[in-house]
Amino acid sequence: RIAYVNGRYVAHAEASVHIEDRGYQFADGVYEVCEVARGYIVDMKRHLDRLDRSLRELSIAWPMNRAAMEIVIVEVIRRNRVKNGLVYLQVTRGVASRDFLFPADTRPSVVITAKKVDPAALAKRAENGIKVITVPENRWDRVDIKSVGLLPNVLAKQKANEAGAHEAWFVDADGTVKEGGSSNAWIVTGDGALVTRPAEHGILRGITRTTLLDVAAKLGLRVEERGFTVAEAKAAREAFISSATTLAMPVVAIDGDPVANGHPGSVALSLRQAFFDIAE
Ligand code: PDD
Repeated sequence: RIAYVNGRYVAHAEASVHIEDRGYQFADGVYEVCEVARGYIVDMKRHLDRLDRSLRELSIAWPMNRAAMEIVIVEVIRRNRVKNGLVYLQVTRGVASRDFLFPADTRPSVVITAKKVDPAALAKRAENGIKVITVPENRWDRVDIKSVGLLPNVLAKQKANEAGAHEAWFVDADGTVKEGGSSNAWIVTGDGALVTRPAEHGILRGITRTTLLDVAAKLGLRVEERGFTVAEAKAAREAFISSATTLAMPVVAIDGDPVANGHPGSVALSLRQAFFDIAE
């Protein structure tokens, strides 16, 4: 495997960043994960728009111009022969002697990697659906920035894994679901409406979420962008999550309680299929 690190394509096994990189010391950086399907980057423009926003929110400069970044991403995919998989892109404020204040003349660091994912394994998981657990929201209130400060997400997802689940949903003190550790959360109500929390309110604006909203509009599905509670999700007709790594993925159990009949819902599965057709 080949990684791109600060201007060079290097063997993945030997790729490294400096010990005083601010990403390492302060989680002072941002990232994107993009899906690669049939050799193409899905929603590249939306991912780079979101990267631009994350960088601006933290006053980190682009490490290269956007057109160059696109070329490097494509080249990393090509060199790794990824047809179906993921691209990981990380930009940090760069290397500087440890000090909380922004360094004056530091160049941002950039790392881009790509890996293959077996689409059959993911399809199998979608056929069975996944289980989620709920955990109290304990992240900072700027989760709209796709920052590499992911320790609460790591702990929540590890807890889910230890409970035999695939995702953890962060839940506000009032019982409303915010989002997953690395995905957005959705339900389908008894009368067939898609419900997902508005992206302005304490969640990451998922690219898959945005694209699924487009898909839903095309399919003529009713959408309600509002919060929902854990109780409402458990009583819903369907629940599912969305992310670049899972796409629309049915949720069949929440904290051990089945969602509806405990099988993947038809709306989630048809959105998953429609997403493939549109990404074509
Ligand atoms: N995570 N919410 C959070 C907290 C996320 O970390 C992610 C993505 C999403 C979904 O966003 P998108 O549809 O753009 O992937 C929502 C990536 C996949 C990750 O951290 O690996």
